[in-house]
Order: sequence, then C-alpha cells, then structure tokens
Amino acid sequence: MNNFIYENKTKVYFGKGCMKEYLTSILRGYSRNVLLAYGGGSVKRNGVYDEVMGYLSDAGKTVTEFSGIMSNPTYEKVQEGAKLARENEVNLILAVGGGSVIDCCKIVSAQAKTERDIWEMEFDCRTYPTEFIPMIAIVTASGTGAEMNNGAVITNEERKLKAGMLGAQADIAMIDPTYALSLPMRQVLSGAFDTLSHCMETYFGKPGSGNLSDEINETIMRLVIRNIRVLLKDEGNMNARSELAWASSMAENGILKIGKVTDFECHQMEHQLGAYTDCNHGAGLAVLHPVYYRHIYQSGLPKFARFAEVVWGISSEDKTEEELAKSGIEALASFIREIGLPTTLRELGVNEDTDLKAIADSCNCVAGAYKKMTHEEILEIFKECY
Ligand code: NZQ
Ligand code: ZN
Repeated sequence: MNNFIYENKTKVYFGKGCMKEYLTSILRGYSRNVLLAYGGGSVKRNGVYDEVMGYLSDAGKTVTEFSGIMSNPTYEKVQEGAKLARENEVNLILAVGGGSVIDCCKIVSAQAKTERDIWEMEFDCRTYPTEFIPMIAIVTASGTGAEMNNGAVITNEERKLKAGMLGAQADIAMIDPTYALSLPMRQVLSGAFDTLSHCMETYFGKPGSGNLSDEINETIMRLVIRNIRVLLKDEGNMNARSELAWASSMAENGILKIGKVTDFECHQMEHQLGAYTDCNHGAGLAVLHPVYYRHIYQSGLPKFARFAEVVWGISSEDKTEEELAKSGIEALASFIREIGLPTTLRELGVNEDTDLKAIADSCNCVAGAYKKMTHEEILEIFKECY
C-alpha cells in the first residue's frame, strides 16, 4: 500500500429539504456580501433560485448575482466572476448548479484573492492559490462529484485547453436529490456515467490489486450500474436518484484514491475533445472508454479480468484470463448502448472535419495508466471512435 495523507474539509448536508432546514442558519455564520452563482437559467425554472433567494433574504445578506455560467465553463467566465466578487467585496460564494457552476466558482474564489493571472500561475509557474473566498455548493445535478474536492475543470478558449485547475473547496455541500428531478434524463445518465468513469479511472490505476480503495470502488460501480437501470424503468425513483447522487460525491471525494496512483487518461482525452467541440462531458466519456480499454487491457489483464467478474458478474468458467478481461470491456460497451448514451463520435455530434490530430496532440499522456499513451495512439483511439 502506498503512503497517503487524507483530509476532506467539506461538510455535507444530504437529502430532501436539507437546504430549507439548514441554509439560513449556516448563512448567518458568514459575512454579509454573497455572490450567488448559477448557470443558464434552470434554477429559475425549477424554483431553486427563489428558494435560495428567500434564505439569503432571511439571513440578511446583500446579494450580487453571477449568472450564465455555461457547461464546460470558460476562463473568461471565471474572470467575469472574479471581477464581480472583487467589486462587490464578496465574502461568500454560493454556487448553485452542477459541476460547471461549482468548478467555475472554485477558481473565481481563488482569482478574486490574487492580482496574478491564475492560469499563468498554475500552468506556467506551477504555483497554486492559498487564499480563497469561502464557498458553499448547492448541487442541482450530480455526476462530477465537484462538490467535495478542490479540482476544477476550466476551458481556456484562447489556448484551446480544457484543463484541471486547483481552486477553493466548498466548506459546505448541500445535496438534495429532488432538485435534479427537473434535469433532462440524458443529463442524469451522462452524469451517472461520469461517476462510473471516475470509479474506473481510479480502479485501473496503481497498485492494481489487494487494496481497500478498490474494494469500496467495486461496490460503488455495481451500485451505479444497478441504480442507472432502476432509473431507466422508473425515472422518479428517489432511492435510486439519492444513491447515485451520493455515489457521485463518493467517487470524487478522494476516498477511492487513497493509496493509489490513478489513471484518468480517458478524462484527458475527453477534456481536449471538449476544448475543441464543447461536447457533453459524461457522453464524451461514454464514447471513449470502451475503445480506450481495448487499447490498454493487455497491460492490466488480471485487473480487467477481475472487473469482468466482480463488477459485471461474468463467470470465469471456460474462459482464459484474456477472454474474461475482454468480456468485461464488452459488457461496459453494451451497457452504454443499453442506457442510450452515444457510442461514437458521430453520435456525440463531432463533425467529420474536426481536426482529430490536433486534439490528440493536445492531450496529456498521464503516468498512472497501465499503459502510457502516445499522441499517435490517442489519434488511433479517436479514429476508432468515429
Ligand atoms: O445552466 P443551467 O441552465 O443550470 O443548465 C444546466 C446545464 O445545461 C443543467 N442543469 C443543472 N441542474 C439542473 C439542470 N437542468 C434542469 N434541472 C436541474 N436541476 O444541466 C446542464 C449540465 O450542467 P453541468 O453543470 O454542465 O453538468 P455537469 O454537472 O456534468 O458538469 C460538467 C462539468 O464538470 C467538469 C466537466 O468537465 C464539465 O466541465 N468536471 C468536473 C469535475 C470535478 N470538479 O471534480 C470532475 C469531472 O470529471 C468533470 O471533468
Ligand atoms: Zn468526469
């Protein structure tokens, strides 16, 4: 087992009505000026905006609104939020939304506290922010797990990069799974697939076997697969929705990564695909994962064989280790078809004239994977995804 340090500072309030019960008194513990951040308007249509505004008013807060945070949030949007935060002397950011709103706010929180350009600081100078405006995340769409970590994925349109940055971690996350009832089913599924992807990206890392993190991970993967199937038959099933929402946080709150070096190459590829095409994150992962795993499984046969048996329930009888390993990847591919997520770049909406080579060349090749990718092999993967 590798050495590790583990801490997670986010206090989680989970369940129906948690915001009503706790938010006003929590807000009273923070100073007056609040930046209320949200996306393109779903919060206004589903009533969450009015509800939050009510609690902010009850707690006597002065509110500055920061709206229009897009999916795959841009660095330009981060700068807009940081400017608002500075001008209005904001002392708390309330991020109400999915991963995009929460991620954008993590970097707004850090950028507002420094005169330096935070992109240059992190990527060119490899120095990381230490001062933040406190942040509370109200989760309206699950999948990314962004509410319990300090990573943020931001698109720098000028540099054509969608990359992971480090920013603020929410002091508090409120997860009321009923808020996601207004989320289109396609997004519920792509979010849940993102959770499964986080599990797999961590599972197929190093060390490859015999650790608690991976055994907890197997349980979460089975639970995610099972509850996606429940939701497909019964969209309103609150138990399945709640389990998926908590699984989403669990997959990215660091617990599964304890003692491990993770892979996340598939995320690197999807992020760059997103930088060039603005595709949906979970849907992009659904296209890439099976093809990526067909490329790497031979470098991690025992783990892929275990994945087939333990996660997909495939019998090892009459199979070689290689056959078993392959059957797990094919089970994953057929699950993606079953739940109706895209299985090709064409279905994802990526045009044929997209410069796949430029995208492949811009991807990071991470060290944690069973097999380190080259840009040539990433291009092959993209082409096979067409
Ligand atoms: O903008 P609005 O109008 O709010 O609509 C959003 C958006 O169009 C809508 N939505 C959210 N809650 C809703 C709702 N619609 C109806 N009812 C609700 N309750 O859903 C759409 C998608 O939202 P978004 O936040 O973009 O989705 P998601 O949560 O999947 O976040 C994706 C972003 O997170 C990054 C992704 O790369 C992508 O940029 N990730 C962040 C991670 C992290 N910080 O740990 C890890 C992930 O791997 C991921 O990379
Ligand atoms: Zn993800």
